Amino acid sequence: MITSSEFEGHRLTDEEVLAFVRLLFPAGSDTTYLALGSMMNHVLGDPELKARLLADPALVPKVVDECLRLYSTTAMMPRYTETGMDYEGAHIPPNSWVMFGIRTANRDPSVFEDPDRFDAARSQRKSLAFSVGSHACLGMHLARAEMQVSLELLLKRLPGLRLRDGRVPMTQVNLRGVRALPVRFDDVLPA
Ligand code: HEM
Repeated sequence: MITSSEFEGHRLTDEEVLAFVRLLFPAGSDTTYLALGSMMNHVLGDPELKARLLADPALVPKVVDECLRLYSTTAMMPRYTETGMDYEGAHIPPNSWVMFGIRTANRDPSVFEDPDRFDAARSQRKSLAFSVGSHACLGMHLARAEMQVSLELLLKRLPGLRLRDGRVPMTQVNLRGVRALPVRFDDVLPA
């Protein structure tokens, strides 16, 4: 349907459709599995939080959003400006590249009180985990749903799920997360 539609007289070429599908692999899968890893790293490293989640699944969406803010998988994104601007004392000339820091913004103390602290009750209205504006994440609702379902099922179906060696450090500036998360569990319960 989308591939055969026209917008302002333009129809997507096969090359454009293929480029979009190629974009969906890093944009849709790397981001989600890395964010899931960062979240499990946090949750399993805090047995009290894990117990609260098991007792009250209504907490799951809040924990997902707070982990997305705190560990921002897409830590930095580039933009190109044709016009340039002055911003908070910095001169950005026309026709230049700018990197904006999503992770830094998500830990800005003037926006989030005590920003390095995990707080599932805080408002996420200003979280930039999925960016804002015309290029905001197309898959944000899917990503949240995937993370919520995964968190709930992993805790429910793998009794005794725990970190094998404690929390693992995250790596890389962009597509940031844990590359491997060794865990142990005692059983696998049926669906
Ligand atoms: C936790 C998982 C995810 C995170 C943290 C994330 C984050 C982001 C961010 C920050 C942007 C904005 C990029 C920019 O401003 O230049 C973005 C764009 C995008 N995301 Fe995601 N994303 C996630 C999952 C997904 C999924 C599951 C899909 C699709 C299946 C997806 C598809 C896209 C696409 C197509 C764009 C480009 C939108 C545009 O430029 O108009 N993302 N994502």
